[in-house]
Amino acid sequence: MIPEDIINEIKYRNDIETAVSAYVNLKRRGKNLVGLCPFHSEKTPSFTVYPENGSFYCFGCGVGGDVFTFTGLIENLDYIEAVKLLAERSGVALPQDGYDDSMQRLKNRIYDINRDTARFFHSFLMSPEGKWALDYLLGRGLTLKTIKHFGLGAAPDSWDRLIKHLKQKGYSESEMTAANVVGKSSRGTLYDRFRKRVMFPIINIRGNIIGFSGRAMPGEDKQGGKYVNTSDTPVYKKSANLFGMNFAKNFCSERIILVEGNMDVITLHQAGFKNTAAPLGTAFTQEQVNLLARYTKEIVLTLDADAAGQKAAQRASQLLAGSGLKVRVIMIPDGKDPDEYIKKNGPERFSALLEGAVSDMDYKLLSAAKNINSKSDDGRLQYLSAAAEIVAESDDIMTRDIYIGRLSEKYGVSRTALTAKIEEIRRNKLRLKKKKEISEIIRPRLSKDDINPERRKSVKGTAAEETLIAVLLKNPDFYRTALEQLPVEKMITSLNRRIYEIIISTLESGRTLDVSVFAEKLLPAEIGYVVSLQNSDKAGKNPDIVLKDCIRVILEEDTLSSAVNSAEATAEDWAASLKDLIDKKSKGNI
Ligand code: CTP
Ligand code: MN
Repeated sequence: MIPEDIINEIKYRNDIETAVSAYVNLKRRGKNLVGLCPFHSEKTPSFTVYPENGSFYCFGCGVGGDVFTFTGLIENLDYIEAVKLLAERSGVALPQDGYDDSMQRLKNRIYDINRDTARFFHSFLMSPEGKWALDYLLGRGLTLKTIKHFGLGAAPDSWDRLIKHLKQKGYSESEMTAANVVGKSSRGTLYDRFRKRVMFPIINIRGNIIGFSGRAMPGEDKQGGKYVNTSDTPVYKKSANLFGMNFAKNFCSERIILVEGNMDVITLHQAGFKNTAAPLGTAFTQEQVNLLARYTKEIVLTLDADAAGQKAAQRASQLLAGSGLKVRVIMIPDGKDPDEYIKKNGPERFSALLEGAVSDMDYKLLSAAKNINSKSDDGRLQYLSAAAEIVAESDDIMTRDIYIGRLSEKYGVSRTALTAKIEEIRRNKLRLKKKKEISEIIRPRLSKDDINPERRKSVKGTAAEETLIAVLLKNPDFYRTALEQLPVEKMITSLNRRIYEIIISTLESGRTLDVSVFAEKLLPAEIGYVVSLQNSDKAGKNPDIVLKDCIRVILEEDTLSSAVNSAEATAEDWAASLKDLIDKKSKGNI
């Protein structure tokens, strides 16, 4: 545990409004602030920041918490790491030991292993033994400077040279397998995961090596495939990172070029396009979009003109649509990747391609035109309906007007007809959207049930518990009265019992009651639930009377629900009450 006064100091120096503003565009609404939630995709803001008590809550997806929870979620860190990061940012010194940081220790060991492994691969590449790999990289047009800059390396053709090297450096077998540079066979033997491959270290935006991607030599990809990559580890999540982002982040405030492969990133970087990154052999994900949205305004997708490329473009533009990012697409002629294109045509031609990158809409219209015979009336009609759907997607009336003009000219149809058709599509869409928005307003209630699945035991009792918690969060002084009349075990639902218990034990030990005390003990959605209660007006104007009422209802409902439950308890309920009994027994309460 980090001492409370230090937590408070860090919190004081990292106010939630500033911390969140670094990632989310916030607008003031009364005494609170709202913005688009960075944790799920949405078009209308339901992400709320409460500067008054340093908390946030999203009415759309239910996450919530304090500045530590926020930082942890957005930077992909656990609680202790988030505390450390904010402490570092604001110059607060943390005590060295005294709290459990075994996970953090393992992570640091993995970072160290990765760094030592990258050095091992790099020296091997530069040694006479690694000539085959260096020749290959130079043969693909990379300079020594680039090879060094990206820390490229090569894995020897051996099952255990890396293991031996790492052992000598003092790493344990379990640390090596946790880093996933070493694998373990079903018979329990360890082996080097990367053998006879050119190695690309994957570096996160904070400059730590988090994993590797290894490419087989041409013609030798039978075993293990063309690329072998690090699987997810405690420090590496493939779907949340992008190759090259550690460099690109400093050059992409205007736009970033997204390519498919590592080699494309490296070649483009060498040719002067330093604002380039690539997803790590996965389909594009929401987390990657969130990462990009923090650094750039516009994404230029480079894609093959083939079917796979078009599918990827569709998926990407769907994901990007909700992010506020501008998207353009470059189709590289002759189905080449950017690496090959630049080598053949030079950086100027690529630059021209970039400048001429068509808008997302142009791209979609072009793709739609591909399989249609525009010579026949039928074909033209078919194309125009598809095109109308595409143009209708734009919310900008000028943009729509420009495209309506172009289409009507090119396909000989009247502007009026086309405009009417597009407006009709938009009206229908709007109706659907309204419907969806209404169901989205209802959703938080549903998700509240997901968070507290025992609500069905007693809806009335659970509501009383929630109000009681809200009262105590606003009026901590009442906790003695509450505790005298309502012992912890009388709470009906186990989530609320846990929350009540945290409130009581915090106040009993003289600590201040704020969101941070929940952050270590509850899940993000559960903290969100607490924050939503804290910021609700359930406590009303006469919290003392409300409190009494709540206690009465809970006690009544508790008796009722236990009577019902013993009659129709599920196996889960039994297991839970058994565990309760055991817990109490071990605490000496029975
Ligand atoms: N990839 C992968 N596993 C594979 C094939 C591909 O993880 N078996 C990922 C790699 O990140 C690769 C990207 O998908 O960089 C694109 O694949 P591909 O176009 O086949 O490779 P290139 O990057 O073009 O590699 P090269 O130019 O060296 O052939
Ligand atoms: Mn390639």
